[in-house]
Amino acid sequence: MITIGDLQKIYRMGDVEVRALDGVTLDIAKGEFLGIMGASGSGKTTLLHMLGLLDIPTSGSIVIDGTDVSQLNDYEKTMFRLYKFGYVFQDYALVPDLTVMENVSLPAMLRKDRTEEQYHDASIDILTKIGMLDRQDHLPRELSGGQQQRVSIARAIVNKPDILFADEPCANLDTENSRMVLDLFRDINEEMQQTIVMVSHEDWHKDYFHRIISLQDGKVISDGTTGTKH
Ligand SMILES: Nc1ncnc2c1ncn2[C@@H]1O[C@H](COP(=O)(O)OP(=O)(O)O)[C@@H](O)[C@H]1O
Ligand SMILES: [Mg+2]
Repeated sequence: MITIGDLQKIYRMGDVEVRALDGVTLDIAKGEFLGIMGASGSGKTTLLHMLGLLDIPTSGSIVIDGTDVSQLNDYEKTMFRLYKFGYVFQDYALVPDLTVMENVSLPAMLRKDRTEEQYHDASIDILTKIGMLDRQDHLPRELSGGQQQRVSIARAIVNKPDILFADEPCANLDTENSRMVLDLFRDINEEMQQTIVMVSHEDWHKDYFHRIISLQDGKVISDGTTGTKH
């Protein structure tokens, strides 16, 4: 459960002030597949970065599973990200010199509670699930965009994070690959009851979301559940 209260993020550039988030108040339930929509510049990425502890709000509160995250120091934030969150970005963000297997294993390796055998097995499971096991020794550049995004999703979920954050994960994909990514999100949401917070500006993605909030100028202008099963 995520509780967001009156969240503000103001960027100051010289004399100019940009209110990227202007008083966002929102609860996100466990297991929800939430879509954040809105025009370019409306504050979607900023909101995702605040929730994912990738950036610090100017004011307001974020409480995640009972923890007021503003009280965490940098080390605690890193641990929170590593143990609780997974991230998928629009540009895949794979490490170019690491193989598929190494990329996927990376977040599992960084955790101190896994043996090598455990994270290797977890990576094999997830690569099998996304249909990329036969590419485990390939480098990212040897894969198509859709395949790279599937690998980045595998990396994001290998630790079975409570919350998956995705910022326009289909932005560089064609419809077929976009559908594959969204189907994968729907599967992991249903199988693992994983909370997914996904930014999108494609209308047809709405079919996948349980609930959609729309942002405009850093404010929530609509918030509604869809007919999609939850
Ligand atoms: N690092 C930054 N410095 C200054 N302004 C920024 C920065 N990041 C975002 N902004 C501004 O904040 C607003 C919201 O940006 P963003 O959250 O990236 O929107 P979206 O993801 O919806 O396109 C925009 O006006 C953008 O220009
Ligand atoms: Mg954005």
